[in-house]
Amino acid sequence: MTTTPYVVLHGSSSSLILDCTGNAPAMLYWGTKLSANVDPGMLSILAKRQIANGAATEDLSITLCPTDGEGFMGQTGLRVHRNGQSWGVYTQIDAIEQPDAQRAIIRSSDKNSRVSMVHEIHLEPESNVVSTTTKIINDCEQELTVDWCAAATFGISPQYSDVISYEGRWAKEFQLRRQKQFVGTHVKENRKGRTSHDSFPGLLLAESQCDDLSGQVYGFHLGWSGNHRLCVEQLYDGRALVQMGELLFPGEIILGANESYESPIIYGLHSQTGLNGISQGYHQFVRNHILSTKQQQKERPIHFNTWEALYFEHSMEALSKLVKQAADVGAERFVLDDGWFRHRRNDDAGLGDWYVEESIYPEGLGPLIEEVTSSGMEFGLWVEPEMVNPDSDLYRQHPDWILQVPGTKPVEFRNQFVLDFSREEVTSYLFERIDALLKEYDIAYLKWDMNRDIHQPGNHLGRASVNAQTLALYKLIERLRTAHPDVEIESCASGGARADFGILRYTDRLWTSDSNDALDRLSIQQGLSLFFPPEVMGSHIGPKFCHITGRQLDIDLRASTAFFGHMGMEVNLSEFDEAEVIQLKNALKLHKKFRPLIHSGNLVRFKLNDYSHSFGVISEAQDQALYSYTETGGYPKHLPGQYIFHGLDESAEYRLEIIWPSKLKVPIYKDVMDHIKDKVFSGEVLRHFGLQLPILMPESVIIFHVTRV
Ligand code: GLA
Repeated sequence: MTTTPYVVLHGSSSSLILDCTGNAPAMLYWGTKLSANVDPGMLSILAKRQIANGAATEDLSITLCPTDGEGFMGQTGLRVHRNGQSWGVYTQIDAIEQPDAQRAIIRSSDKNSRVSMVHEIHLEPESNVVSTTTKIINDCEQELTVDWCAAATFGISPQYSDVISYEGRWAKEFQLRRQKQFVGTHVKENRKGRTSHDSFPGLLLAESQCDDLSGQVYGFHLGWSGNHRLCVEQLYDGRALVQMGELLFPGEIILGANESYESPIIYGLHSQTGLNGISQGYHQFVRNHILSTKQQQKERPIHFNTWEALYFEHSMEALSKLVKQAADVGAERFVLDDGWFRHRRNDDAGLGDWYVEESIYPEGLGPLIEEVTSSGMEFGLWVEPEMVNPDSDLYRQHPDWILQVPGTKPVEFRNQFVLDFSREEVTSYLFERIDALLKEYDIAYLKWDMNRDIHQPGNHLGRASVNAQTLALYKLIERLRTAHPDVEIESCASGGARADFGILRYTDRLWTSDSNDALDRLSIQQGLSLFFPPEVMGSHIGPKFCHITGRQLDIDLRASTAFFGHMGMEVNLSEFDEAEVIQLKNALKLHKKFRPLIHSGNLVRFKLNDYSHSFGVISEAQDQALYSYTETGGYPKHLPGQYIFHGLDESAEYRLEIIWPSKLKVPIYKDVMDHIKDKVFSGEVLRHFGLQLPILMPESVIIFHVTRV
């Protein structure tokens, strides 16, 4: 229990101070690290605001959970009531606990409305990520309806004027958009029942000068795979706030006596080194605190996935051929995608019937798995457990097992309904089926898909149920993981519609996007990379004619884009000519050589011009790095600019080597970059002067390997 009315938490580069002198905790300071003996009272005096004419004569703070009872007139952090009563919650702090130097638990209650509140806030010292939750408890017999309980509300200085948030769609997820804050509220609401393609629950608040490399910026992410509401509000008096929480449907959470609702976790981060500081902090946090140690210690095997190679055209003959080809080019894991189970000859039927289709696999999956494992690869299997097709044995037996709203017509998406996970018998059936497959076969990996939004989310009790559905999903995956601790799981939802820290706690890899178009992938992967490290980012070499965009891209570009994630292939290898097979083998070999660096290094993004993508991955010791430059096309001059090698040690000396492609795509081929071979350059000149890039054809790439001499 602390005796001062302030909570002070320090990380390696940031500090956070909560002011608990009022009725509720409020963010007093969050930013650049302050000294250990900082006097919070001093900040409090400096922060004192004048009261404007005609305004409330008392200062209404932006508390961690501003309420109607406090008279807060911006976005409140809590909306509850008991049949229209108890809506004006006004809590008083009862206790401030600091179990350790990095964590505070603040307990408050409102004796009048009979509700209690618990805020937990943790500043992880190495990454500086701040994790916060808010819990609301019903302290009386009468039911309490919770309509909204934000994870936290952070008062933020208005100097962070730019809101960088996400847009997107299927096959073009994680698109960043920068806008100026305005007086009023920037709101993103997601009612898709999954994290969504179009509203990734993350945003940044940046100073106007802030870019990838410099400036101050805050990052925020809600680690939750259901519905969400994110907002940035600038109040009429000039103050600003950020708030995130779970979007609840009417009556979704009704608390009985002593029951509680706990928000998902909001993960915040302050950076003084631009957007790269944000991604480096989140990457470190994911590596050390979200992924398991076991996962971190195992190298990520190169995937071969059957989807774009075969779609539903499964046959032992075609699969055996692919297994041989995949192993020959260097794949380390073979993932059998959609189409292997009963009735599933196209996407009209079969979801729910998790039994092997005997007409295609008369002896089960055993013979195929045997071929895969004896070729030295692991075997992975696609499942979509939350779904059912109306044309399935499961639906015919249990038409009442789906989420639906009584009296309405359930609407299908991709010919499928969502199973009601608030029914115990549904998750038991799914556990039994998947458990049986994992017990019978040598399956190292599940690709866990979820191919539709959840709308009309009514459960068997008539209640809205996205919250219960999401928690039950986590529980089912956890139960399977406990029973099969060596099985790894990928989170996929028609591409990247379920990528968030909530699901990542239960899974190992994210399927980033259904688009394997290398050019589109550059911005998709860039958007994802703000919050997620490369090793969880599923990234595949697709066909030459991209199936989704129709664009034709050569193997050098396709390979270079997949190279910087958890690499894989998803293509019919019989379409490759001999030269492409050689290039593919080279690319996979290179990835194997460099994946320890790609999957542990510090990512730096930077922009040379509007027609290219540039980034580097630098080892922690700064003794080696990879840098990528992709010219996307349309560059109006001959010469691209000087390539600056950000992130190198300025006091060290380095050698530069072009490791990809083997032959640069230049208009008239000469050994244009021979002059850098075997030369030594100081980190200082590489970092400040850079290298003149050669004249490149559109849609071409260069990857440099830089090594300390
Ligand atoms: C989704 C996934 C794809 C593939 C198909 C199978 O679209 O994102 O990768 O697995 O489902 O139906």
